[in-house]
Amino acid sequence: MTTTSPRSIRLDALAYGGDYNPDQWPESVWAEDARLMVEAGVNLVTLPVFSWPLLEPRPGEYDFAGLDRVIDLLWEHGIRIDLATATATPPAWLVREHPEVLPWNADGVRLEFGSRQSYCPSSPIFREAALRLTRTLAERYGAHPALALWHVSNEYGDHVSRCWCPESARHFRRWLQNRYQTIDGLNAAWGTSCWGQHYLDFEQIEPPRTATGPINPAELVDFERFSSDALLELFQAEIDVLREVTPDIAVTTNFMSMFRELDYWDFADAEDLVTDDAYPDPSDQDAHIAAALNYGLMRSLKDGRPWLLLEQAPSAVSWREVNVPKAPGQMRVGSMQALAHGSDGVLFFQWRQAKFGPEKFHSAMLGHRGERSRTFQETKALGAELKTLAPITGTRVRASVALVADWDSWWGVSEPESLPSVRLDWLREARAWHAAAYALGQPVDVARAAGPYGEHRVLLVPNLYATTTEQAAALTAFVEAGGQLVVGPFSGVVDHREQIHDGGAPGPLRDLLGVEVDEWWPLADGQIRSVAFDTSFATPGETHGVRVWSEWIEVAPRTEVLATYADGDLAGRPAVTRRASGAGAAWYLSAGLDSDGMRAVLAQVFAAADVPVAASIDTDLEVVTRTDGTTDYTFVLNHGRADRSAPPIPGGRDLLTGAPSDSAIALPAFGVAVIAHPAPADPAPARTIESELLQPTRRERP
Ligand code: GLA
Repeated sequence: MTTTSPRSIRLDALAYGGDYNPDQWPESVWAEDARLMVEAGVNLVTLPVFSWPLLEPRPGEYDFAGLDRVIDLLWEHGIRIDLATATATPPAWLVREHPEVLPWNADGVRLEFGSRQSYCPSSPIFREAALRLTRTLAERYGAHPALALWHVSNEYGDHVSRCWCPESARHFRRWLQNRYQTIDGLNAAWGTSCWGQHYLDFEQIEPPRTATGPINPAELVDFERFSSDALLELFQAEIDVLREVTPDIAVTTNFMSMFRELDYWDFADAEDLVTDDAYPDPSDQDAHIAAALNYGLMRSLKDGRPWLLLEQAPSAVSWREVNVPKAPGQMRVGSMQALAHGSDGVLFFQWRQAKFGPEKFHSAMLGHRGERSRTFQETKALGAELKTLAPITGTRVRASVALVADWDSWWGVSEPESLPSVRLDWLREARAWHAAAYALGQPVDVARAAGPYGEHRVLLVPNLYATTTEQAAALTAFVEAGGQLVVGPFSGVVDHREQIHDGGAPGPLRDLLGVEVDEWWPLADGQIRSVAFDTSFATPGETHGVRVWSEWIEVAPRTEVLATYADGDLAGRPAVTRRASGAGAAWYLSAGLDSDGMRAVLAQVFAAADVPVAASIDTDLEVVTRTDGTTDYTFVLNHGRADRSAPPIPGGRDLLTGAPSDSAIALPAFGVAVIAHPAPADPAPARTIESELLQPTRRERP
């Protein structure tokens, strides 16, 4: 991140800090907060996220005295502000005066005030009040030198991502009218000739509240699109005010990693900086693998530009059933992982641990024990280390592999009532495919289904249930230009209206993949099936388990069959195929393969794309390179509790310790090295350096 480009964060260092809730503390504590923040290396603080009722205690009556003082105090200490528009939760006066602001659930029950985010995204009353506060804040603080970034609302969709109230119904109708123009257009798209759902007028349409039976799937998917758009409209409305009043200040809203409810491609387009809140579960030994995919999405949402980890927990959270703390060193390696994957800083929820409220058991940088708390000691140490990592600021991650994420498909395969199987979980599939690439040593970016695909040589498409002809054309062009495309089951099934493509799946991908799906054969619960690989694999004849899904497919003449079903009713039939096209190839996996099978296929794909594969598999060791084109910064991360050793990187030096990397890099439990070394002239050899690094020696602690 730099201070030069228009609307980038105003900070010329890696960001470090957290959410600060001074409202929850007597003012006498603030001076100590500022002093300890400086001691911890904090340079950016997020506030006042939930302070609307204090800032505007009565309609149109403002009190900024406290916020003025806290911002000035922080700025006197050199700390900048990620200034929230404070619109994440309306005050009680607003919802009591206008109860119609409260959201409804699908059963038509109004959700009561008393938690947070108690508003309907479509409410014009809420919007007007939120925009008034946003404008007032922007006018008051827009010229303050501490203002680094606008933080609009908070985690859109966190508690309320869909609303079924009468106001949402009106908004939904307007949205549908805009999409379909005429009611006949809607009837045709939704296929309302089925089950007698024909509409005469948009006024007859309600949001899909709980109904007598399965609801029209086209309506359900449109409601998902609409609901994402409704929150986006609200976001955009605040952005418009901010851009008008403070045109030079960058705008963000904090994302929630791989979040089904909102199409983050659209949200990222609207803002200046992508920020994410990441809460990997410390009790899940593989949480860092899913985190790597989340971070791949964050950097890809703006074409590889640095993003910012805006929240993470210093240790335990308070919202899981069991909230396990992070072991010593675990927060550090998790933070370094976010940096490795392109974040230009690390921030926490929150600065000082609460004394009351639903988050009093949530860890904070400054724990209940104050300076003596372990979290303070560890966050202070990390703050110091971040200063030594300053050279990585603004650099980008190199990746040859991208995974396609498409919200239409995600929404389509998660409607529960009309699919061949509800066991095909889009996110679980995406994570399984990503985990295989991760295990082979490759960081994975994320791409839109219609591209652009950048420099990527391999495209992974775990599922593209809804495929448009434009997407199919872009994927075909990718393959013809030399790319390796891998498509997973139940893809190319419907068009953008949720209607089955003529001739069946894989619809517009039929020629590219060279297969036709005759019928889907999802696995019954407990059913065990396998596939056998052919001689083109490293281990011909090897069988691998099938998860969740299989298909009866027919292959076209030029399509190679690489694996066949080994048992059950599909025994002997093709399971995995490849078809060359132009300079590349398109692979089709008709089955959900187990992790070994996925890795075996991807190893072949990577070989075809000239993307190196790790010599051995150790998923606790992760290697990711950021580069400015001249210098590479290779992060070597040990996510496990066993010591590890990585091969030398000649000519490099660890930014954290200053040690040369000419001999083996020793990594204790949760250890990290950040090796600065000259970037190779051609990006491809950079991958080889990473690959060579992936030769861990598994040495358990004595
Ligand atoms: C989210 C919210 C924060 C806080 C944290 C707790 O990220 O944005 O306000 O509630 O969760 O983990």
